[in-house]
Amino acid sequence: MDAPLKRVAAKRRPSKLQNNLIYGAVWLACFAPLVWLTWRGLTGDLGANPIEALIRQIGVWGLRLLLVGLAVTPAARILNKPRLVRFRRTIGLFAFCYVGLHLLTYIGVDLFFDWGQLWKDILKRPFITLGMGAFVLLIPLAVTSTNGMIRRLGRATWERIHWLVYLIVPLGVAHYYLLVKADHRPPLVYAAILTVLLGWRLWDVWGRRAAR
Ligand code: HEM
Repeated sequence: MDAPLKRVAAKRRPSKLQNNLIYGAVWLACFAPLVWLTWRGLTGDLGANPIEALIRQIGVWGLRLLLVGLAVTPAARILNKPRLVRFRRTIGLFAFCYVGLHLLTYIGVDLFFDWGQLWKDILKRPFITLGMGAFVLLIPLAVTSTNGMIRRLGRATWERIHWLVYLIVPLGVAHYYLLVKADHRPPLVYAAILTVLLGWRLWDVWGRRAAR
């Protein structure tokens, strides 16, 4: 967490119960799309091609959570709610789980675990290459998300590893853009949101360097 955010956060600690309730709400909000999709799958509400719909919907939620994760710090700063940043890890881990499930559904249900075909797809289909790149880069973020790992690596190294998110989310958006054949508006909306979030980050970094 940035130093100014850390100082204000220390002053305004919610009670343990409040903390647990807020964590529970965040956890539920992240988990709800998966429950909803499972329910729709079980009740035959995923259209004529439920497998494709499932892969796509899980991917969309993975991307949404990645963007929500990126939006946490700006939101904490703008709303002056510094303790919001503690939810970044939960949201990021859920994003990783959704993307992992997206990949697993694709490999298991679409490719029937044909690893050779997966490899061919990675080499021949650019949208798969980018998606796979994003997933591979997400792994170190997930692996280093525990308190123990943060302690072992040191805060500075840990933060440097987590800059990967600024590569992962654009790769995810590009993956979406490339796979869409007709209407490019939905991926462009995600690209616009990403541009705003990255723009805020750059502006923030420049602002703080100038203030030094
Ligand atoms: C951070 C990583 C990733 C993100 C954010 C992501 C996100 C998405 C999104 C948003 C869609 C489109 C949903 C729609 O059309 O409504 C999608 C579709 C898809 N993704 Fe990913 N994805 C990621 C990684 C991967 C990986 C690693 C693979 C497989 C190796 C993959 C395979 C697919 C496939 C096969 C589709 C459906 C394509 C189609 O139906 O034509 N994705 N993904």
